[in-house]
Amino acid sequence: MTSAQTKEGLKKLPDNCLEDSIAILDFGSQYSQLIARRVREASTYSELMPFSVSAEELKRLNPKGIILSGGPNSCYDEGAPRLDKDIWTLGLPVLGVCYGMQLMARDLDGDVTPAKESEYGRALLTVVEHDTLFEGVEPAINSWMSHGDSVSKLPPGFRVSAKTANTPVAAISDDERGYYGVQFHPEVVHTQDGQKIIENFVSKVCKCSQSWTMDKFVDQAIQEVRERVGDKRVLLALSGGVDSSTLAFLLHKAIGDNLTCMFIDQGFMRKNEPEWLVEKFENEFNIHVHFIKARDRFLEKLKGVTDPEDKRKIIGNEFIRVFEEESTRLGPFDYLAQGTLYPDVIESSGHQIDPKTGERIAVKIKSHHNVGGLPEDLKFKLVEPFNKLFKDEVRLAAKELGVPDGIVRRHPFPGPGLAIRVIGEVTKERLATLREADWIIREECKKHKLYREIWQVFGVLLPVKSVGVMGDKRTYQNPIVIRAVTSEDGMTADWARLPYDFLEILSSRIVNEVPGINRVAYDITSKPPSTIEWE
Ligand code: XMP
Repeated sequence: MTSAQTKEGLKKLPDNCLEDSIAILDFGSQYSQLIARRVREASTYSELMPFSVSAEELKRLNPKGIILSGGPNSCYDEGAPRLDKDIWTLGLPVLGVCYGMQLMARDLDGDVTPAKESEYGRALLTVVEHDTLFEGVEPAINSWMSHGDSVSKLPPGFRVSAKTANTPVAAISDDERGYYGVQFHPEVVHTQDGQKIIENFVSKVCKCSQSWTMDKFVDQAIQEVRERVGDKRVLLALSGGVDSSTLAFLLHKAIGDNLTCMFIDQGFMRKNEPEWLVEKFENEFNIHVHFIKARDRFLEKLKGVTDPEDKRKIIGNEFIRVFEEESTRLGPFDYLAQGTLYPDVIESSGHQIDPKTGERIAVKIKSHHNVGGLPEDLKFKLVEPFNKLFKDEVRLAAKELGVPDGIVRRHPFPGPGLAIRVIGEVTKERLATLREADWIIREECKKHKLYREIWQVFGVLLPVKSVGVMGDKRTYQNPIVIRAVTSEDGMTADWARLPYDFLEILSSRIVNEVPGINRVAYDITSKPPSTIEWE
């Protein structure tokens, strides 16, 4: 990582955090964000920072403890990511996870060597010392391992606190200095009592007051918006998702009618959704929404377009055009409100790094069009009250603000909506077909109480045709694919094991009730290697 990136990453941090906080130094593990979320679940504010942060910069955040994340490197490799050595002089408790523990051992005069046996996946962990970190943890727990190296010599002052069959040094501790290392990943759900271990570090070792709660956050955020915006006007593009809806509630509470909400109907929403949404906001929440009818112009632009990336770009560009026209018509506005979340901030501020090269990783799998993807030359100042929150925290804030369950629990819905679930060309007729099938799928999921157990469930309309027989007639029509996944954050996902009898109901209803469909398939691929959406 270049120093410019480091500074960029830190610019966004508060000068001195008011809450007790934990700093998580990111060595490139896929679980780093998860550690930050788990600490937040322990009612403690956490910040994810690049591993290269200096002791001086850390002092500015004033954390009560530090967690070193895992990472893909071997700590004895040349060029492997290292810690500013002065961090060990700050007198703060440190928890090293996986690579973080190995780094700790090495930095403090222990040793790390390739393990005799690598361990990946579940391993039974025996706690041999119930130190502060393991207080209240069962003597033997399932843990999640992922390592090829091991601590082979303990640093002075440390003792072994847990082991597995293949790893004699699976956890180490120096209670006196508040230094702990775990070879396993307590942040992963597969580690039994993992959250307890993190809570022990946060509350018992670091003595954090655990005062990060969403009711407090909401009060503070309302106050901050009032102070920042004063009596100026704010524009919010509402999408109907949990982030923009919650933002609308918060801003309306903060500045009342100085908030203008607009909803751009591109024509790619699900059945009845635009009407439902606007009706709810207008009549139930007393928040006025400008309903912008733009269906025809989006469809016109998509004529003959079949490439997924082209579709996304065209929709994104058209969205910006409509947005500009309408904001001029309804304006002028001083501020634009956006539902930017903490992971967006992390990703755009250089935290996604390749620990080997220090380069920022920009893995572009799909160009995600969002209301957030507006060009920088729009002359608005931004209001982003959620830029320190994770998605699950926005849901909690939504509850605090009284956002109804129907919105809070709504499955994620992509910006380009049904246009990327109608595979191939998007036409009015094909959208209508998918809309009907999708309605049946969601209605049945809710009826059978499956909706909440699933991260996302929807239909995809394919452009291929297959032969069928209905009554005595041969049919030659399109299939609908049902996509249902379970996930924690949409980054990885597993296909949902929906009961056969339930799938049977979906298949039979779709084929019988949706004209043009004679076959239903169920997508049984996880992410990776697939993505959740088909385009
Ligand atoms: P994929 O398909 O990449 O999706 O596995 C991961 C999650 O992101 C949602 N998604 C989007 N959300 N704009 C959004 O706001 C988009 O363009 C977009 N594309 C995908 C997807 O529904 C899933 O929850």
